[in-house]
Amino acid sequence: MQRRLTFSMIKPDAVRANHIGSILAMIEQADFSIQAMVMLQLNHPVAERFYDIHVHRPFYKELCAFIASGPIVAMVLEKENAVVDFRKLMGATNPAEAAAGTIRALFATSIDHNAIHGSDTDTTAAGEISFFFAGREFV
Ligand code: GTP
Ligand code: MG
Repeated sequence: MQRRLTFSMIKPDAVRANHIGSILAMIEQADFSIQAMVMLQLNHPVAERFYDIHVHRPFYKELCAFIASGPIVAMVLEKENAVVDFRKLMGATNPAEAAAGTIRALFATSIDHNAIHGSDTDTTAAGEISFFFAGREFV
């Protein structure tokens, strides 16, 4: 099968809790190859643009405030079936429902502080990759 890209972001809760290294180790052990990576803090207007697909959801304001609350690690990952396999590695949105051994089962503390983001389709992956990495060269 053809190798494909997905986009992921280690969220501020997991960065604050010093889980960057453990999460990257899980990602590499699951056979994803890291193609590009940057650590930075989103300001509020950029956070609102990143999450504009959720603008009508009741928790939109909280979600944007949280994602802008501290540094994140944004990355491009390559693997066969990358989007679907990465969502399996993350586990369910709500850590109470996340399968044992997934990133969210291990590191998320609540549905709104859930450690990691992963694109949900190839189309959103392409959009999220260009949101962070457009105009930059990566492998
Ligand atoms: P992402 O990979 O972060 O996009 O998560 P997801 O695709 O598993 O979930 P979804 O896109 O539906 O929601 C985006 C994010 O909104 C989630 O990761 C949560 O952090 C947050 N979220 C979802 N449901 C709730 C909720 O009921 N309350 C709050 N405060 N946040 C929520
Ligand atoms: Mg999502």
